[in-house]
Amino acid sequence: MAMGLGLGSVYLLLLCFVLTSCCNGGISSSYSRTNDISADMPLNSDVFALPHGFNAPQQVHITQGDHEGRGVIVSWVTPNEPGSSKVIYWAENSNVKQHAVGSFVTYKYYNYSSPYIHHCTIKNLEYNTKYFYELGTGNVTRQFWFTTPPEVGPDVPYTFGLIGDLGQTFDSNRTLTHYESNPAKGQAVLFVGDLSYADAYPLHDNNRWDSWARFVERSVAYQPWIWSAGNHEIDYLPEYGEGEPFKPYTHRYYVPYEAPGVHLRFGYSIKRASAYIIVMSSYSAYGMYTPQYKWLMNELPKVNRSETPWLIVVMHCPLYSTYLHHYMEGETMRVMYEQYFVKYKVDVVFSGHVHAYERTERISNVAYNIENGLCTPRNDEYAPVYITIGDGGNQEGLLYEMVDPQPKYSAFREPSYGHATFEIKNRTTAYYAWHRNQDGYSVEADSVWFHNLYWKSLSDSSAASL
Ligand SMILES: *[C@@H]1O[C@H](CO)[C@@H](O)[C@H](O)[C@H]1NC(C)=O
Ligand SMILES: *[C@@H]1O[C@H](CO)[C@@H](O)[C@H](O)[C@H]1NC(C)=O
Ligand SMILES: *[C@@H]1O[C@H](CO)[C@@H](O)[C@H](O)[C@H]1NC(C)=O
Ligand SMILES: *[C@@H]1O[C@H](CO)[C@@H](O)[C@H](O)[C@H]1NC(C)=O
Ligand SMILES: *[C@@H]1O[C@H](CO)[C@@H](O)[C@H](O)[C@H]1NC(C)=O
Ligand SMILES: [Fe+2]
Repeated sequence: MAMGLGLGSVYLLLLCFVLTSCCNGGISSSYSRTNDISADMPLNSDVFALPHGFNAPQQVHITQGDHEGRGVIVSWVTPNEPGSSKVIYWAENSNVKQHAVGSFVTYKYYNYSSPYIHHCTIKNLEYNTKYFYELGTGNVTRQFWFTTPPEVGPDVPYTFGLIGDLGQTFDSNRTLTHYESNPAKGQAVLFVGDLSYADAYPLHDNNRWDSWARFVERSVAYQPWIWSAGNHEIDYLPEYGEGEPFKPYTHRYYVPYEAPGVHLRFGYSIKRASAYIIVMSSYSAYGMYTPQYKWLMNELPKVNRSETPWLIVVMHCPLYSTYLHHYMEGETMRVMYEQYFVKYKVDVVFSGHVHAYERTERISNVAYNIENGLCTPRNDEYAPVYITIGDGGNQEGLLYEMVDPQPKYSAFREPSYGHATFEIKNRTTAYYAWHRNQDGYSVEADSVWFHNLYWKSLSDSSAASL
């Protein structure tokens, strides 16, 4: 009988097999792009322009400055002399000017000497209020503004932007422009690591840390970017005497990590509106008994999903990625922590590192115990979605090589530059969309509705008990 099968039907069978196996996975976008790699913008570009005036404050950036969202860390640089570390600020509807005084640091990196880097934390701001703030003295003051988040609560809508691996190329500028012009209007950025790529230059030319901060000022002086450290923040150059990892980053980017009893520079958590955000460090010790492990084991049970329903984890290196470059680099971290992300119903894990875009299904791979052979990711409606958004546009270019055929757990992947937004509507629902740079500002190249895992589990179990 088998002999009777025509060659044609064998091909047909084969074709069916190929089609079903490839289409079990999600979508590998066939979007085609041109000029996929671009150089860093030259130092005389408009985006790097120095503000006018002697010792004028530059590189202004803000981030959340406390656990609840009533604090802001304002950071900036003065190039010529220390100047003042004072921030003058006032609410939009008030003419009472207040001030806070911070301090400055400097550092040397091989033969580079940093300018004066100021950090000033403003605390006890009113929620949901627009504030103006002013830096500098005499005729070189500069004014900016920010809006504090609404008071923490379960149904507070809030929109986060997602940007990663940004660098300072022409593509980086397109990504930032698209984020700024996105009608979804992100209110704060979750930055998934790898900021300036200064380490791509001879001796990690730290002038590129300065130029990067001038480039992004147009956004980050007005809304907080929540920082996480990537491998390009390590700046490890022991052969030139620079053996202290993260030296430029730690001097320039302060984060609110000083929770009582916690001394973990790159792991911290914040509440913002209806979200609880846990920032982890892919490049700090994370095995059993390490500070990061102890902190996280203490942190996860503390999250009160009635207060902050949305539990979001940010870490540079993805736990799931089906691109061949950096393949399985996050595996040791996954083995350590995925079980807890599943147990505590983390809604989504945002990462970068891989210079492309990918979104997984809700999956987990936690059943394996070294001898039971259960080592394949499986659909799990209560497990996180993993999103890789390392497509900011740095000078290393995009990654095209992928695991083929596309594994089932990968829902959508495409090597294009872009950014995403995560729009929380209320305690049960959020809307996520990824935007590629080649499209119009409002075009969504990938999108999905999120149903909050904690509230879903409650309604599922009450439905089951009926
Ligand atoms: C302030 O501006 C005046 C001219 O308006 C200029 O002569 C002076 O040098 C400036 N001072 C500083 C500190 O830049
Ligand atoms: C630092 O050293 C490099 C290489 O020797 C040199 O090109 C550069 O000009 C030096 N920079 C400074 C600020 O001395
Ligand atoms: C960067 O983007 C901004 C906003 O679109 C634009 O005004 C500026 O000219 C761009 N600069 C470069 C060097 O591409
Ligand atoms: C959790 O948050 C809710 C809402 O804010 C509050 O009523 C409740 O007391 C909190 N639970 C705990 C254990 O703190
Ligand atoms: C939450 O938001 C979604 C989307 O806007 C809406 O359909 C749903 O009714 C809202 N739920 C509640 C409890 O307000
Ligand atoms: Fe990276």
